[in-house]
Amino acid sequence: MGKDVIVACDFASAEETFAFLDRFQGRKPFVKIGMELFYAEGPAIVREIKRRGHKIFLDLKLHDIPNTVKKAMAVLSRLDVDITNLHAGGTIPMMQAAIEGLTRPDGTRPLLIAVTLLTSTDQAAMENDLLIREPIDRVVTHYAENAKKAGLDGVVCSPLEAKKVHTVCGSGFLTVTPGVRFADGDVGDQKRVMTPAEAKRVGSDYIVVGRPITAAPDPAAAYERCLSDFLD
Ligand code: C5P
Repeated sequence: MGKDVIVACDFASAEETFAFLDRFQGRKPFVKIGMELFYAEGPAIVREIKRRGHKIFLDLKLHDIPNTVKKAMAVLSRLDVDITNLHAGGTIPMMQAAIEGLTRPDGTRPLLIAVTLLTSTDQAAMENDLLIREPIDRVVTHYAENAKKAGLDGVVCSPLEAKKVHTVCGSGFLTVTPGVRFADGDVGDQKRVMTPAEAKRVGSDYIVVGRPITAAPDPAAAYERCLSDFLD
């Protein structure tokens, strides 16, 4: 899969989601389904969005003992999503078990990426709550290297970290980056943001964009703007 814009469908119900997707009139954006929508609607929402012809990033951020993650990933592999994820903090054996579970009998599997550190975790929380005393960017690249060692395809990270991750893990290791805003847009609760054009310059492979598209008066136009800024 090449570079693309992934639209974060952070909605509470199937009705809202389909009303939103119907506004794209024939366009089929790559869609991110997160915990809120998945827990509200279950696997049926994944099957229906897939049936409508969208690619899907299922963002459930698994983190448990290896055996449990392996079995959960086997269930997700049958949903035919394109990308799914877990927390790198679950360590290398958990990530390896996830790959085993996700791999279908015919050897194919969805792409698997790791959340390194959540962008809501800052240096102080890492030191005080997690007792990790390394600089945060060192922790992010270490977790990315662990993900690569375990055989994963990439990481979710801030666009500000994309270049460093590619330097350490290679340009083929995917960086999927939220925290994207138009230069003239509202930043909201995102602290460290980049525009789609800047994310392109630092080498992000996929940008994940929510409110700049979902809350726009014309979501299809905002999506087209993101696509042309990021891809052209
Ligand atoms: O609306 P906005 O563009 O901020 O949405 C970004 C999406 O990316 C949300 O679904 C959010 O949960 C997700 N995300 C993030 N930062 C991370 C990981 C995921 O914003 N570090």
